[in-house]
Amino acid sequence: MEATLTIIKPDSVAAGNAGNIIAHLEREGFKVTAVKKLTLSQAQARAFYEVHKERPFYDSLVEFMTSGPSMPVALERDNAVKHLRAVMGATNPAEADQGTIRSLYATSIEANAIHGSDSAENAQIELGFFFSRAELLAGRG
Ligand code: CMP
Repeated sequence: MEATLTIIKPDSVAAGNAGNIIAHLEREGFKVTAVKKLTLSQAQARAFYEVHKERPFYDSLVEFMTSGPSMPVALERDNAVKHLRAVMGATNPAEADQGTIRSLYATSIEANAIHGSDSAENAQIELGFFFSRAELLAGRG
């Protein structure tokens, strides 16, 4: 079993797609071990996306991610990081394969429905950003 993090982003939550996205992930064999609904502060969004701080889209990304509630979801599955990235689709929904979450629910390269950790190492860092060890252990089967 491997752990990863998705964030159902403010566009998906506002559009009422959170339930469909979680159902899609469960159909793909992911177990939800923890979930929260929260509106990120500027400081939290800046810290979470710090690796992108030199990118031209950073300020806009922070604005978008703080614009309303989002839902961090801790997931487990064999090969979870790689499988989530396949199921999620390309960053730009115009390039996402048909049937992927971003092809189904994203509206732009920024409002792209969900986030997915890009490596097992970053998954641990990102899970720890939102969830305590006790919360993650309590939700395991
Ligand atoms: P995510 O996978 O969460 O990681 C970085 C986010 O930056 C990305 O999804 C998008 O929401 C956002 N973003 C906005 N513009 C761009 C861009 N031109 N290239 C990549 N990511 C972008």
